[in-house]
Amino acid sequence: MLAKINETASFLTAKMQYLPKVGIILGTGLGELATQITDRQEIPYESIPNFPVSTVEGHSGKLIVGMLGSIQVLAMQGRFHYYEGYSMKEVTFPVRVMKALGVETLLVSNAAGGMNPSFQIGDLMIITDHINTFPEHPLRGKNEPSLGTRFPDMSKAYPVELRNKAKQIAQDNGIKVVEGVYVGTSGPTFETPAEYNYFRVIGGDAVGMSTVPEVIVAVHAGIQVFAMSIITDLGVPGQVVEVSHEEVQQIANLAQPKMTLIMKELIAQL
Ligand code: HPA
Repeated sequence: MLAKINETASFLTAKMQYLPKVGIILGTGLGELATQITDRQEIPYESIPNFPVSTVEGHSGKLIVGMLGSIQVLAMQGRFHYYEGYSMKEVTFPVRVMKALGVETLLVSNAAGGMNPSFQIGDLMIITDHINTFPEHPLRGKNEPSLGTRFPDMSKAYPVELRNKAKQIAQDNGIKVVEGVYVGTSGPTFETPAEYNYFRVIGGDAVGMSTVPEVIVAVHAGIQVFAMSIITDLGVPGQVVEVSHEEVQQIANLAQPKMTLIMKELIAQL
């Protein structure tokens, strides 16, 4: 794996004007932030050695490298989901490459179903912690010490300093944010009412099909993480709504400007 990471990082380094300090994984319907990157270079996934190619509708699949304000960023437009059939090593490969390129902070967004009864559709949730229910662990297998330690501590996966900055930015801009625990699950089915209830009972506030693998690999690599969910539907017991991918994208698009502002301001403060 090290050889692959290095090959991909060398390919990108040769192409890029800037080495990124911040990595961004743009979730469902959240591509707007990428449009604000200046001095940009776009690198389609299919042209990058060892990169998996994204397939799911609504994810176009390219790296965008450039500047957000005065900060060098590398954004992934389109991520690799476990439910698409990729292994956990493939899902998290881009984060390994980010580390090799010198990324110090990873910002992640996603769409999620809300289970906390105080949440409303369209809310932005700052992720405070997660519960990993994926059937495969991204760090399973031989540990490569140069990438990180065998048994990584996960007690500060989402550092409070970044969360507090984001909350302040939201407050200054009159944006409502909630906070909570994200449950990562494999999908591709949305939850049954009993499953939403189960994820609530075990301590979740929202559930989605991404983010946790990438965050685990980032923490392993010593990259600090900030992550936010758009609550696109509710799995609150008694209020479970029918949900479709189209609706998830539609709600995510509506919430997108607020999320974009918070992420952009946060990057400026890094
Ligand atoms: N469950 C899982 N993933 C999701 C949901 C959900 O309710 N909404 C958006 N992504």
